[in-house]
Amino acid sequence: MKSRRIGPLEVSCIGLGCMGFSHAYGTPPSPEQAERVMLEALERGVTLFDTAALYGFGTNETLVGRVLKAHRSRIVLASKGGMAGVAFADGVKRVIDGRPEAIRRNCDDSLRRLGTDVIDLYYLHRWDKAVPIEDSVGALADLVRAGKVRALGLSEVSAATLRRAHAVHPIVAVQSEYSLWSRNVEIGVLGACRELGATLVAFSPLARGFLTGQLRDVAALPPKDIRRAMPRFEPATYARNLELLPGFAALAREAGCTMAQLALAWVLAQGEHVVALPGTTQLAHLQENLGAAALELAAVHRARADALINQCTVAGARYSAGNAVEVDTEPY
Ligand SMILES: NC(=O)c1ccc[n+]([C@@H]2O[C@H](COP(=O)([O-])OP(=O)(O)OC[C@H]3O[C@@H](n4cnc5c(N)ncnc54)[C@H](OP(=O)(O)O)[C@@H]3O)[C@@H](O)[C@H]2O)c1
Repeated sequence: MKSRRIGPLEVSCIGLGCMGFSHAYGTPPSPEQAERVMLEALERGVTLFDTAALYGFGTNETLVGRVLKAHRSRIVLASKGGMAGVAFADGVKRVIDGRPEAIRRNCDDSLRRLGTDVIDLYYLHRWDKAVPIEDSVGALADLVRAGKVRALGLSEVSAATLRRAHAVHPIVAVQSEYSLWSRNVEIGVLGACRELGATLVAFSPLARGFLTGQLRDVAALPPKDIRRAMPRFEPATYARNLELLPGFAALAREAGCTMAQLALAWVLAQGEHVVALPGTTQLAHLQENLGAAALELAAVHRARADALINQCTVAGARYSAGNAVEVDTEPY
């Protein structure tokens, strides 16, 4: 497995996103299945494991911490705060809270659930626009000084916000959605990362399954699947997006790989300061995805993928209006 850098940390160029083990896409797998996938990833050279306080409202961190505890020194453990489950009278709800006291509480809770003394890479999951970014990053910097986290990242922020944050404390990573069908980071933050020495950690590089060619019938997604609330996955819109896939499948065949591998290799080809963060609950998918690390994508294949699937050819917005206001990424 090739490695890349995130600030002081050396990581596999493809990490494992652990969200799906507890949350997001259909019914989560059993803890035993999640454990098999994590240990297989480790065995195959993955060193970057990504979780968050939000995922499964804490249960994901507990699971990831338990499975990887024995391997703690071999891995880079990444988690996120500033967006977490909060208990209300009518149940636990997702709350974005970037106040320093919330960040401190989130981090202590994460350390306890992960069963570790230090989190290698700690992100602000969303910028809480009611709190100056300098205040939230100031609290994160205090966590570094206290030895609770090693390095800092932000998620779904614009280049302008990244620069403001970086002026308070070095930001070594921006985790944002990046794939052939989600190009927002190309407007500003990808270049700003390069300039500031930060790494772009590309989440959902497989377009939440779309670019694998395996997800055809979105009308059959379970009611709680988060893709149901995303405009691109609305059945009529998705049907238009599916029309892009025969060309993509042909290109993958020509490049000698699968569609998933082409999608990941395209992300990795965007710069040495980019790391791909796919997620899977299936061993076969994991093996397929990790195969992309060894691919050298020819410039002509990269250019044709670029031209085929991009912000002009994809139908539908990335997020619903309600979720779009929560992110700070530059919009098209
Ligand atoms: N910072 C943020 O706001 C944010 C937001 C979203 C995600 N993330 C992070 O990014 C990670 C990855 O995101 P994601 O899960 O959306 O990424 P993704 O890899 O683009 O999509 C995962 C989906 O694709 C499917 N899949 C994966 N590999 C496949 C393959 N080879 N063939 C067919 N289907 C395949 C998975 O199903 P199977 O399980 O069946 O393989 C799952 O439904 C998350 O786990 C999380 O750590 C961060």
